[in-house]
Amino acid sequence: MKRILVTGGLGYIGSHSVVELQQSGYEVVIVDNLSNSRADVVDNIQAVTSVRPAFEKVDCTDLDAMEGVFKKYAGIEAIIHFAASKAVGESVQKPLLYYRNNIVSLLNLLELMPRFGVKGLVFSSSCTVYGEPDVLPVTEDAPIKPATSPYGNTKQINEEIIRDFVKAQDGVNAILLRYFNPIGAHPTALLGELPNGVPQNLVPYITQTAIGIREQLSVFGDDYDTPDGSCIRDYINVVDLAKAHVIAIDRILNDKQKERVEVFNIGTGRGLSVLELVDMFQKATGVKLNYKITGRRAGDIEKVWADPRKANEELGWKAETSVEDTLLSAWKWQLKLREKGIQ
Ligand code: UFG
Repeated sequence: MKRILVTGGLGYIGSHSVVELQQSGYEVVIVDNLSNSRADVVDNIQAVTSVRPAFEKVDCTDLDAMEGVFKKYAGIEAIIHFAASKAVGESVQKPLLYYRNNIVSLLNLLELMPRFGVKGLVFSSSCTVYGEPDVLPVTEDAPIKPATSPYGNTKQINEEIIRDFVKAQDGVNAILLRYFNPIGAHPTALLGELPNGVPQNLVPYITQTAIGIREQLSVFGDDYDTPDGSCIRDYINVVDLAKAHVIAIDRILNDKQKERVEVFNIGTGRGLSVLELVDMFQKATGVKLNYKITGRRAGDIEKVWADPRKANEELGWKAETSVEDTLLSAWKWQLKLREKGIQ
């Protein structure tokens, strides 16, 4: 069985990806510092897959501890690197925390890869690297725009570090997956997003408002240059997104890459406005949502959605789940959290 290291494997996208990897026959070792996740996610992964992944509570910025992981689990063939701080607003307040966490973690992994014979890295990047795109849908060739937050900058810098390192290091290859807006939860409602405190992202805010944890959703602006005036995003189902990681790992391990660093947009190709999403949530769940239009949120992109054709054609990956089913999965997850008394 091929052994894969998944950093941040107990987080939102990480946990769904561990499930897909295990269901595809990979053996997974999770490293997670639990800074934005819970240890019992391991139990839930086991409940979904009947396989308990190995888990080490280690911080990726700790080089010695990471070396210990590679020694303990000999023969790791590839890494999926999810572990990172990801709150845009917090990154503006605490830039050094973001640069340290997100950059040092990657440097440590890259340093250890050749020493332990690890062939490839799949990196969690973001459509944030495109900023406000000039052409829509956005392709992988679109220019990288100056980052508008330290968080976004860490994604750009990490992409560049990976490119430079692969150039210098034979035998190490990489795939950069640029995610659009991941939403939803596992259909079993055993895994999903667990935001810390007040959610910053739209869908957790919607589900928490619908269940009564939050009083009202604020729709940030209706005066954008879009058909209904609210911002447009490409909302991608988290399980579909997780599957792209398995394909990327297969591709690296089976020497299918066309270039030693490949980049793929992972999105649906469909742009939806905030108001459209709110409407779809209400229709899919039958729950009425209390919302109001407020002012714009600083730093928001007006509209961005993916051209996912490169991933469709080269990876054979396609977003499959409808937005309605995805919103329903997010709602079921929120109901399950209440049942468990977590939120
Ligand atoms: N929004 C609201 N009300 C809320 C929360 C969000 O109206 O309470 C709106 C935002 O203004 C935006 C849309 O919903 O128009 C989506 O906002 P999110 O915060 O869910 O997502 P973003 O597109 O702002 O950011 C996400 C990730 C980032 C990543 C970025 C890439 O959270 O990590 O996509 O564009 F960098």
